[in-house]
Amino acid sequence: MASVVVVGTQWGDEGKGKIVDLLTRYADFVVRFQGGNNAGHTLVVDGKQYIFHIIPSGILYKDKTCVIGNGVIIDPGVLLKEMANLAEKGMAVTPRQLLISANAHLIMPYHQCLDVARENALAKGKKIGTTGRGIGPCYMDKVGRVGMKVGDLLDMSLFTDKLQAAVEDKNFILTRQFGAQPLDYAAILDQFEAHAAQLSPFIGNVSVALDQARKAGKNILFEGAQGTQLDIDHGTYPFVTSSNTIAGNACIGSGFGPVHIDEVIGILKAYTTRVGEGPFPTELPEGDGIGDILQQKGHEYGATTGRRRRCGWFDAVVANDAVRLNGLTGFAVTKLDVLSGLKKLKIATGYRVEGVPYGYMPDNIRKARMAEPVYEEMDGWGTELPGIRSYEDLPAQAKDYLKRLEDLTGVAPAIVSVGPDREETLLLRNPFSG
Ligand code: IMP
Repeated sequence: MASVVVVGTQWGDEGKGKIVDLLTRYADFVVRFQGGNNAGHTLVVDGKQYIFHIIPSGILYKDKTCVIGNGVIIDPGVLLKEMANLAEKGMAVTPRQLLISANAHLIMPYHQCLDVARENALAKGKKIGTTGRGIGPCYMDKVGRVGMKVGDLLDMSLFTDKLQAAVEDKNFILTRQFGAQPLDYAAILDQFEAHAAQLSPFIGNVSVALDQARKAGKNILFEGAQGTQLDIDHGTYPFVTSSNTIAGNACIGSGFGPVHIDEVIGILKAYTTRVGEGPFPTELPEGDGIGDILQQKGHEYGATTGRRRRCGWFDAVVANDAVRLNGLTGFAVTKLDVLSGLKKLKIATGYRVEGVPYGYMPDNIRKARMAEPVYEEMDGWGTELPGIRSYEDLPAQAKDYLKRLEDLTGVAPAIVSVGPDREETLLLRNPFSG
């Protein structure tokens, strides 16, 4: 029995979907604990592509229980659409397969309107580049104690009261501050009455369910969304998402005790990418030959918004921040195959800001923007990797690269991914086996 947390170590899009899918084979429960449908997990199974934004990707396994914890924010329309898509493919989701916390918050239509209106109102250079899914405004309401909870769907008189006050308040802001159209209270109520009828059988107490699972000796996998540098407290604020993306939130966002976590695996892309605005010290700007190769070969487009991801060299400063902030016990290195064919590879081992050396991401956003990477260079490898099924068969330079990542961070890879398919993965150490 083990409880394993998986988190992104960079700016999201590290390939968590694939690693979570692999580890799900060994888990009984798969738990999401933060974020919403700003996340996008892409999986390729038997040549078929699946993209999930809110349902844990473990849903592809019939015998697992997928859990959406209290720390997640849920757009019920998006969730129901994902469930309908699965039903169309003959994989209708049952309440035994999916449990949603009554304490999770609902992304309401006005959250999405406010997200887009706020982002549009920001001047160039100040925009966050949000996914426009209502994430920030929904978490603002949660912390402001005026949020709509999933559990409210089970009590329509409470829901109606809260909704009336919320729509009045948000319409004031939308019309007066942003000159936008007001939303129709009756239409939202109708829509959510229908959502309530469909979702009610899936709503329950996640903390109690996970406690029972742990006591029954079940394996539990906690699936983080986004990445460490997008954490609301520890990331490149304000160019971050509105939740805590680091491993500590696996406990808070699901109601699970910290002493019961056995392993924390950090997903580490073999190079670095970022979507949206904000500091990115090792970025290779658009038009840079190598940046463009990484972008094209790595298919670096956001799974949620389709935006082109910014690409750059591997950054050991970012990796070390992730080791410290998450207490990582192992890495899952992804997309190693994308580096094949590059003659020389660069790794940032530190930064300099106004001449001062830094071994961590500067807290000050102005300084983070000015951080200049200090690089070391390694030899690349010529051969493509997808046929490779064991660590021993990797080219010597690829092994050297992995060893260097380990030496720079003090954390060894437990998993190495050499291609997009489930089978293109080297499992060096199974975190569920201790
Ligand atoms: P928000 O989460 O939509 O508010 O967006 C805030 C920032 O986080 C933006 O820069 C987004 O591009 C980024 N972001 C949010 N979710 C993801 C994700 O799943 N992967 C990568 N970046 C993300």
